[in-house]
Amino acid sequence: MRIDKLLSNMGFGSRKEVKKHLKGGGTVVNGETVKDPKFQVDPEKDTVIVHGEEVTYKEFVYLMMNKPPGVLSATEDTEGETVIDLLEMEDQIFNPFPVGRLDKETEGLLLITNDGQLSHQLLSPKKHVPKTYFSIIDGEVTEEDVKAFAEGVTLDDGYETKPGELEIISSGMRSEINLTITEGKFHQVKRMFESVGKRVIYLKRISMGPLPLDETLELGEYRELTDEEVEELKDYKQE
Ligand code: URA
Repeated sequence: MRIDKLLSNMGFGSRKEVKKHLKGGGTVVNGETVKDPKFQVDPEKDTVIVHGEEVTYKEFVYLMMNKPPGVLSATEDTEGETVIDLLEMEDQIFNPFPVGRLDKETEGLLLITNDGQLSHQLLSPKKHVPKTYFSIIDGEVTEEDVKAFAEGVTLDDGYETKPGELEIISSGMRSEINLTITEGKFHQVKRMFESVGKRVIYLKRISMGPLPLDETLELGEYRELTDEEVEELKDYKQE
């Protein structure tokens, strides 16, 4: 790959800016100063140093965020803050996007990547990737609800959901539950509870496929996935 493309992809500016910067002589490849923007580098093998600092090239970035409430899972919004606004510049330069959406008030696990293929694979309805939500419900969640969800419920627009696995953690005037679903219809968890006459008052995603939310992340914090986590996601097949 051309050195100007590599540097530009790594956030050193536009191709034009990078060209100027190369002219200045601060870029060293395998010990030699490189000024030619067309100079070919192998990002896997060559050592690229810019102003004394090694540049590690990567094409993709994979981030796990504990999404805070009040922030949109979109890339751009003229009105409000988005999850992308919460990223450091060194991550924003990869132009990542959220894998699917959580509602504005929903918290929890959100993957953010620029790997379109992985995102597609995780969101494709054919793959049935399970997503588990912890929720506080206004009202008493019962074994009837567990049965109804296991069979699939009818949403307000007539859509019949796939079976969902509802686990009651505590039941009372307010109940706490975990719900695992394999689809991602608009407001699905809220609408599934509405179909049995109950209201979601708090919602947090706690896992997606093989990946649990890293509970050490505070709301709004994020971290890169480990290589193992990325591999697990790529290899994930629903049993
Ligand atoms: N279901 C919802 O209702 N909201 C979300 O954010 C995710 C799933």
